[in-house]
Amino acid sequence: MAMISEHPSLSARTLLDRRATGIEPFLERYTANFAFYGSGKAALYDGLAGLVTPGENVLVPAYLPDAVVEPFRDLGLEPRYYRVRETLAPDRADLAERLDDETAAVVTVDYFGFPQPELEAVASLLADRDCYHVDDNAHAPLSVDDGTLLGTRGHLGVTSLRKLLPIPDGAVLYCNDDSVAARLEPLSFAGVRDRFGVDDCRYVLESLAGDLLGTNATVRRAVERLVAERAVSVPDPKARYEAAKTPMSRLSAAVVAAADPTAIRRARRTNYLAWRRCFDSRSGVEAYHETLPEGICPQVFPLRTGSPQRLVAALERCGVAAHTWPRLAATVRDDPAYAVARRLARETVVLPVHQGVDPIAIEAVDDRLRRRATTASRSAPRRSVPRERRR
Ligand SMILES: Cc1ncc(COP(=O)(O)O)c(C=O)c1O
Repeated sequence: MAMISEHPSLSARTLLDRRATGIEPFLERYTANFAFYGSGKAALYDGLAGLVTPGENVLVPAYLPDAVVEPFRDLGLEPRYYRVRETLAPDRADLAERLDDETAAVVTVDYFGFPQPELEAVASLLADRDCYHVDDNAHAPLSVDDGTLLGTRGHLGVTSLRKLLPIPDGAVLYCNDDSVAARLEPLSFAGVRDRFGVDDCRYVLESLAGDLLGTNATVRRAVERLVAERAVSVPDPKARYEAAKTPMSRLSAAVVAAADPTAIRRARRTNYLAWRRCFDSRSGVEAYHETLPEGICPQVFPLRTGSPQRLVAALERCGVAAHTWPRLAATVRDDPAYAVARRLARETVVLPVHQGVDPIAIEAVDDRLRRRATTASRSAPRRSVPRERRR
């Protein structure tokens, strides 16, 4: 059974593709003003550092991973979560209510590589205000909507390269406005490290080990058992942010320079459409997007289902690394005002579409899921027959 891993893995081919142009010339086709960082969070910190004053607030959607607000806290800003709608559009009335004279910035998110729905509503709300708009396109560095690179709307934007490529770190800050660019104060974690380091070697080794795990089921099961026994915990959001305050590594820069944007986007779109066909006629699941517009380079195939755990487990049995997204901030998890974001986080399952996935493997998963569904429906007890008569 072919494994469909969560992320693409690093191989010699990644670095030796002669047709590849690299990511930088691709970005340059759309914007001149950008800089590399180790993480999207570090880029958000630097992008806003010269523009805001401690004590101000920043508005972010409630449907957001917990660590994303850490750079704002680090800048002395109060993060305020605004409600979102089922469509992932901002709840305009809630956003308007939370905005005040101390609001330094409003963040919108291009979820899963698709443009933020109803962005115009936010733009019109901010039109007469002295407030920055941040276009968070962490999910999909190569997504272009109607000729505009996602992340380059608003005053500043970010994208996270490690969500696209097999790299240990990497992100881009876009300064979409001349006055923002002029006030940028790049800190020690801007740019690219000047040499290869121990972390680069560790990443290469982990990547090779990951490949081995993918191809050898016995080793994989042994490691999974060990990991489960040791119950590895994810560091808290602040610790993850502190660890992410770095420049981009040399290894990441080398992979970024050797990547082929056209081939990557084509592969991700093909895999996205293969998952779409797989789930099109299945009941109880709903794709987020009806179409895949030209230029979009999806991060994942996101869907919603009332039984996420069952779906994740069924996919896991087929070798697919799917999971719910995201882990919300505690403030959002504990507050009934964010019912929609909480429901979205519970019901959203994301499936890998990366360039390392073979669409034939997706078709094989489709077949297996269908066969299982048929077997399950054949062996299920027929409800109309009373229990005692079935013996
Ligand atoms: C919407 C969003 N914004 C920002 C980030 C931060 O990006 P990075 O992990 O590169 O710091 C993430 C990371 O998951 C994200 O999902």
